[in-house]
Amino acid sequence: MIKLLFVFFFLFFFSLSSEAAIYKGQRVFIKKCLKCHKEGQNFIAKYKMKKWKKLLKKKGKPLAEIHLKSEKAKESWKYFQSKKYAKKSKHLKQFLIEYAKDSGNVPACN
Ligand code: HEC
Repeated sequence: MIKLLFVFFFLFFFSLSSEAAIYKGQRVFIKKCLKCHKEGQNFIAKYKMKKWKKLLKKKGKPLAEIHLKSEKAKESWKYFQSKKYAKKSKHLKQFLIEYAKDSGNVPACN
């Protein structure tokens, strides 16, 4: 019985912490990406999980590079070069994967 309780608590905390990460990632997306990628949720759902994972590996380096190479994305350069981006990229990744094309999820508040 105690064992079962332990498993239950473990699962509870685990789900809580991953929810929190997704929420943080969503905040990053709304604050940092939405002003250029206005399609929001549709933009995220354009790509499959695998693609998001690839773009956000190594602390989001591939994604940063796409933007750093594009004049049109100049406004975002400072952000993509910042430590803040590298730090938050983990949350961002979790959020993006959660709502990728093949995830079957839709953000609740939209
Ligand atoms: C200042 C505007 C700007 C901001 C901010 C911005 N982007 Fe972009 N993004 C662009 C532009 C412009 C391109 C197209 C680059 C190109 O192909 O020349 C692009 C391309 C992309 C692509 C690749 C599209 C493709 O077809 O391969 C992805 C994915 C992407 N952005 C995601 C994001 C995410 C996630 C964020 C937030 C962390 C973000 N962008 C923030 C302007 C922006």
